[in-house]
Amino acid sequence: MMKIGIYGGTFNPPHRGHVLAAASAVRELGLDRLIVMPAGTPPHKEVPAGNPDGAERLALARMAFASVDRAEVSDHEVASEEKDYTIDTLNWLSARCPGDELILITGGDMFRTLPGWKCGDEILRRFSVAALAREFEEEQELATLAETYRADYGATVYFPRAEVFPVSSTEIRRKLPQRLGKELLPEPVYTEIIRRRLYGAKPDFAWLREKAYAMLKPTRIPHVKGCEEEAVRLAAFWGEDTEEAAEAGILHDITKKLDLQGQLLLCRKYDIVIDALEARSDKLLHSKTGAAVAKHEFGVSDAVATAITWHTTGRPGMSRLEKILYLADYMEPTRDFEGLDELRRLCYEDLDRAMALGLAMSIGDLKARHKEIHPMTEKAMEYYSSGKDTTEC
Ligand SMILES: [Fe+2]
Ligand SMILES: [Fe+2]
Repeated sequence: MMKIGIYGGTFNPPHRGHVLAAASAVRELGLDRLIVMPAGTPPHKEVPAGNPDGAERLALARMAFASVDRAEVSDHEVASEEKDYTIDTLNWLSARCPGDELILITGGDMFRTLPGWKCGDEILRRFSVAALAREFEEEQELATLAETYRADYGATVYFPRAEVFPVSSTEIRRKLPQRLGKELLPEPVYTEIIRRRLYGAKPDFAWLREKAYAMLKPTRIPHVKGCEEEAVRLAAFWGEDTEEAAEAGILHDITKKLDLQGQLLLCRKYDIVIDALEARSDKLLHSKTGAAVAKHEFGVSDAVATAITWHTTGRPGMSRLEKILYLADYMEPTRDFEGLDELRRLCYEDLDRAMALGLAMSIGDLKARHKEIHPMTEKAMEYYSSGKDTTEC
């Protein structure tokens, strides 16, 4: 006879507390299997904007519990068209595992209300229950209650010694949009939440820097730090979103290290349309591939992705954030070349004139080095040197 634990919940999102509880249950109860069962979202129930649907919660749960020995995540309730009550799920499982002991893992609150659930008395009579207590006092209280369940229903109740990680999914959902909560989630879950920007999550800046710097040649890190710093300063000065500017600065060169072949692979992966000149220039491609990776792997907004796309060539009619990133990249504090002081001064006086000067300097430099100039850079130069752009600044 196998001992099979069943651990249900909405897992919205699954956090370190859930993982610790699951690992404790497996260890303390000596389980052969632990079936983690994310609850489904009944079809008639709307999922609030930014909240993952059942399939997404299932995917997060699979990431979260992958580290727990003997645990498997079931799609049974998520795949179900109707609301599953615990008794339904236990019956379904018991039909598949005849003769095995099924142990319903509960928290203290669930354990207290169990007799009031649909067929609660039947659950207590036919299946075992494990109650995870938060602290010693709660365990004492639940043990008293367990005596009643034993007397009334002949229930089998366990009290596994659970490691406690005091956090709730509600608290995490509140923290994520404030760039907080990273330490409360298993790393793969946090990464996926950021990638999809679920719950309106925004990345912890220290985490984002760490991820971005790991993708750079170490010699490029000071430039990227400088670019972030300068982009944030410019954004604050011009009334632009400083956090978007920071994300753009941190991520703008994330694919710079790749050679042409690596760049072209990313273009295929993300369906990036490129022209003939770009097809032979890793330098030009890193802007487009960087934008795609920033969007698909780090979930940046379209505004940030677009700023990264145009940070090398520029283009006519750039948004304010695009100009800020282009200029910050060009004149951040670690840069040092002739004419830079004038460009730095102009950046805090007139962004469009600064663009005209930056583009002229860039074209001059490319010509001096006999490099090809991208037509978009020439168009941008024409646009900004004509003084046409008065859109946002
Ligand atoms: Fe770049
Ligand atoms: Fe750069």
